[in-house]
Amino acid sequence: MIETIDCPFASEIKENVISWLTNEKFNSVTGEAYKTKEYTEIHIQEIKRLFDWIESHLSEISDKFAYNTNSLYNNEIRSSTKKFKIDSYWGLNYPLNSWIRPHNHFPHALSFTYYISAPQNSAPLILDHKEHFVKEGQLLVFPSYLMHWVPPAKVEGRTLLSGDIVYLSRF
Ligand SMILES: [Fe+2]
Repeated sequence: MIETIDCPFASEIKENVISWLTNEKFNSVTGEAYKTKEYTEIHIQEIKRLFDWIESHLSEISDKFAYNTNSLYNNEIRSSTKKFKIDSYWGLNYPLNSWIRPHNHFPHALSFTYYISAPQNSAPLILDHKEHFVKEGQLLVFPSYLMHWVPPAKVEGRTLLSGDIVYLSRF
């Protein structure tokens, strides 16, 4: 269960997002990948533009995930309250041979990864036991409870923003 959308303005934001990330502090996490802290505030205009675009797609993505599932999300009474918000986000960079162990983002509702840079032969995202090959400017959204991981990097430069999304059914 995953949705993939190509960002139509990826090339316009890439340079400034990378230069902002370059000045942020990264810490090594399990698998020797590098991660920033988890941000709750937006620091540059390009990320605001990206997140507005991501948030504009979240109710349609959730409709697809909930389709034919008997989820209470499908109730008519909730049709006017399909509000989703990016709660926190962070940057990730994968040096050669780095990887991320299997994990999930429970108890958030949805999570995303957005590939700022994905050189040829970048490691896929393995989600729900399936390989998802990634490319620059691509957004992946998936239910947060799903286990996922990233196998060891064969090239360097795979750089992304990842984050967690909340479902605000009453607001
Ligand atoms: Fe993750």
